[in-house]
Amino acid sequence: MMHFLKLLSSLSFFICFVSCMTPNKAYKNHTKDMHSMVVCSHPAAAKAGIDILKAGGNAYDAAIATQFALAIVYPRAGNIGGGGFMVGRDADGKCFALDFREKAPEAASEDMYLDDQGNVIPDKSLVGIFAAGVPGSVDGMWTLFNEKGSLPWNQLIQPAIDLAKNGVVLTEKEAAHMNEYSVIIDSVSGFKTNYGSKKWKKGDLFVQSALAHTLENIRDFGRDGFYKGKTAEDIVRTSGQHQGLITQSDLDNYHSRWRSPIFCEYKGYQLCLMPPPSSGGVLIAQMLRVMEQMKLSEKGFNTAAYIHGLTEIQRRAYADRSEYFGDPDFVVNHVNTLLSQKYIDSKYSDIKVDKATPSSEIKKGDVNRIESFETTHFSIVDKWQNAVAITTTLNGNYGSKLVVEGSGFLLNNEMDDFSVKPGSPNQFGLIGGEANSIRPGKRMLSSMTPTIISKDGKLYAIVGTPGGSTIITVNLQIIADLIDFNMSMEEAVLAPKMHSQWLPDEIYLEKGRFDSAIINQLEAMGHRVKEVKSLGKPDCIKVLPDGSLEGGTDPSKGDGTIEGF
Ligand code: DON
Repeated sequence: MMHFLKLLSSLSFFICFVSCMTPNKAYKNHTKDMHSMVVCSHPAAAKAGIDILKAGGNAYDAAIATQFALAIVYPRAGNIGGGGFMVGRDADGKCFALDFREKAPEAASEDMYLDDQGNVIPDKSLVGIFAAGVPGSVDGMWTLFNEKGSLPWNQLIQPAIDLAKNGVVLTEKEAAHMNEYSVIIDSVSGFKTNYGSKKWKKGDLFVQSALAHTLENIRDFGRDGFYKGKTAEDIVRTSGQHQGLITQSDLDNYHSRWRSPIFCEYKGYQLCLMPPPSSGGVLIAQMLRVMEQMKLSEKGFNTAAYIHGLTEIQRRAYADRSEYFGDPDFVVNHVNTLLSQKYIDSKYSDIKVDKATPSSEIKKGDVNRIESFETTHFSIVDKWQNAVAITTTLNGNYGSKLVVEGSGFLLNNEMDDFSVKPGSPNQFGLIGGEANSIRPGKRMLSSMTPTIISKDGKLYAIVGTPGGSTIITVNLQIIADLIDFNMSMEEAVLAPKMHSQWLPDEIYLEKGRFDSAIINQLEAMGHRVKEVKSLGKPDCIKVLPDGSLEGGTDPSKGDGTIEGF
């Protein structure tokens, strides 16, 4: 299994390398003069959402249709076996956050990924049933529907059922991903799954009959169609067969949570951000404050001085991430302290304008790698200007790689987002401490940061991206690009991205998109610079001054689609 995973990661590196040779191009599908819009990672899911808006539904209805459609057409990240976060803004300006993040099973324990010597057992938190948290997406959508939905539930689920039953035409990228992962999915699942049924190519029809039946149960019985009855029995049986921990009691006790968003003001704009168990909202609020105090934008867009400043800010913020954040139902997150002026002064005052601070001087630690995995974000605005930002995930590509037999969907591998051992990095190189340790029923810390921005009481932008630990920094740059550098959404989404995260003590730059002179200047300041294929895959919307909408997606990073009318 280990050899297989290594082969897989070198293969992805090769694919990354080839695709990063292509510079980002201007949109083909860039659309303006629209007042209703869905931007998401797959054309068929965008269509499912926009059709609901055309049928008179609101942004929340469209979000539910899009979430379920993504579970069919974008199975490496779209899901019913995972979880996510939503930030919403009603047309009257009220913002709210919904947490449908997975939870640790009741039988989970702090050391469940350690061997007798206390060492981390490789891959146990990443592959197979042990990696899976109790799924939250269906409860999340049901909770959203009950509070905000306007069309009948069955109308919102039907597009996904049709896609599963009639089949979705595979794009080139989906076909390539399925071929890359089908062997491991079949091997982990222990039976021939849909994924491994043939060698896929662009244009093939991918039919998912078992999943269609599961969705029919969800359509007919709502939440109970997943957490009770046949689907629940299939989950519990699969868990038992693989010596997993998820029980009927875990499914009964899963409930999403409404949370108070993190609000922050940046240069006259109001940001509504995801609170813990996302670390992103607090960190973005903290970093924007420092950027404003340092007048960082005056250094100029993506100059060496600007990237240096961002890096110094980000390394300090991510050091906090490793220490202070965890599920707010279990630990205090000290949000007010972390956002107080006194704390920010004490934390950031030692930044030097021309010299890197080694991360080891900020806090000790040691980690290795960073890569892109899969999650997906979508943004929706309806004609009333209700707005939705949802980031949803199985965590890694195709999650735990375990398909629930009989029900046809993949379970997540979100347990890896816990701190499986203090000081030991997860797949994103993120380190955690006690606040993010495993407890029964606890939610694992996340970086997902769906964000909504308004100005003078009016909706301004919906921002979000996948990308593991890079979600926070990519969102930060999009926000800064829009506000500080007055970019269009297209420009902000396509602009070259950087990332740093305390440990490893490195700056990541999108390959081939930064001048060597800038890289040289950063290295002269003491930074270690690495080029990576790409950072983030944002799907965003900006409201133009006349109230029409501008979508933003990056065609070089996937099948992202803007649908509007
Ligand atoms: O919640 C988190 O922070 C991670 N599980 C997100 C994973 C992710 O973004 C992978 N994809 N690109």
